[in-house]
Amino acid sequence: MENPFQETLFHRNQAEPCTMVIFGATGDLTHRKLIPALYNLAASGDLPPHFQCIGFARRDKTDPDFRSELETANRKYSRQTHSDELWQRFEQSIHYHRSEFQDLEGYRSLKDALDRFDQQRGAPANRLFYLASAPEFFKPILELLKQAGLNEAPEGRWARVVCEKPFGKDLTTARALNEVVSQTFEEKDTYRIDHYLGKETAQNIMVLRFANALFEPNWNSRYIDHVQITCAENLGMEGGRGGYYDTAGALRDMVQNHLFQLLSLVAMEPPTDLSADSVRDEKVKVIRSLRRWVGPEAVGHNVVRAQYTAGSVDGVERVGYRQEDRVNPESNTECYVALRLYVDTWRWQGVPFYIRVGKQLPKKATEISVHFKKPPQVPFATASMLSNSENTLVIRIQPDEGIALRILCKQPGQALIMQPVKMDFQYSSSFGKASPEAYERLLLDAMLGDATLFARRDEVENAWKFIDELEHAWHQSAHPPPMCEYPAGSWGPKEADELLAQDGRQWRLL
Ligand code: BG6
Repeated sequence: MENPFQETLFHRNQAEPCTMVIFGATGDLTHRKLIPALYNLAASGDLPPHFQCIGFARRDKTDPDFRSELETANRKYSRQTHSDELWQRFEQSIHYHRSEFQDLEGYRSLKDALDRFDQQRGAPANRLFYLASAPEFFKPILELLKQAGLNEAPEGRWARVVCEKPFGKDLTTARALNEVVSQTFEEKDTYRIDHYLGKETAQNIMVLRFANALFEPNWNSRYIDHVQITCAENLGMEGGRGGYYDTAGALRDMVQNHLFQLLSLVAMEPPTDLSADSVRDEKVKVIRSLRRWVGPEAVGHNVVRAQYTAGSVDGVERVGYRQEDRVNPESNTECYVALRLYVDTWRWQGVPFYIRVGKQLPKKATEISVHFKKPPQVPFATASMLSNSENTLVIRIQPDEGIALRILCKQPGQALIMQPVKMDFQYSSSFGKASPEAYERLLLDAMLGDATLFARRDEVENAWKFIDELEHAWHQSAHPPPMCEYPAGSWGPKEADELLAQDGRQWRLL
């Protein structure tokens, strides 16, 4: 039978000539992620021919200033070692355009600059607009792009927009933003980025599930006891992030987007083909099937929120969340959240999905663990051995990317003693080369016109619908569920352990 993954896995086209405009080009994202990603695409020969990149931002700067700042950043953040020779060639494609985001003149002169590049090349190029500014500027940027006629591609070419997160802060703002986007670009030309989808290991979830006869027949409530998704970070509010984070919190910052995307990939039905819409049709069904937690009682019973207090991570003393720079000392924003979720479909009836995410935990690790039901009977096992007989499939998203399967084996020797052992696949040793960074893959996909790994409008809006109910119970009910605490450097509040203990389960040790 034909393998539907074959084409996507083995065949990548070369992207057509394109000019990329980054709004908010002096920010952290451009330095840490976007430019290193473009540089690495250049290093692997994947950048389109005649590629040009224009940084659009408010500060006064010359091209050489801009290039030299980016060079310093690239030395620090590039996945592949920085090469002076390659950089000198690559930086010729980078330019700086100074303008306020709300100044139409700036967009008109941007259009002139784009036209000039086209004239030099002798043919019009495609246009990729990347919104990496603070989110409050997305609307004026989109409106002025339209007024300057930049949302329309030159004859025979395309114009696309990539929107960075956060995509709204609730359903109302996300809908309003979607309206503005849709008045400027068609949905097929709109790329809402979620960098977790660009991670190699996240992309592998579909291949693992649908290209291996071993797993898919067991991937349901008949064989799976529960699923855990953990996204732990050992950082707090470094780099002045407190200001943004305190207006968002773990639920909006991580769960609405990254964790729901991972959940969708684990729980979705097989798509009919690998087109962007077939895959996203299946993913959005998962989010739409989530059992809603409405009201403080249901939310309190199924969701735990917490803030870290002072503690130590990796031997370094850390202050509590409320003492962090730019965080309100009376803040009511969660930096940890654990949820019990149910995907109410035929496949997943009664199977809990436990999700937890938090800052200032003992280490950085994102993983999905699928816990299989115990066999009905193991004839040669004692009761104590049986309690340990669960098969677990662990998908390590990062770091140490790989997949491990925990199975029971007989210990060598005369006696029949069973012991859990691990079959472990590691990307680094099996493939012998580092995986591309998420932004490399996603930028190239946007240039190639493949939206599979980007969030569609209905995915984003349905995710907010679920999240809004929780935020409402926390912030607008008369008796909101409590804000719990955990010391920095611990694995979260005891209430999160109790959430699983109520069901006779526990979090996997990472
Ligand atoms: C971002 C969040 O989207 O993802 C950050 O805003 C978080 O708070 C980051 O630290 C985590 O990404 P990664 O790739 O380092 O796991």
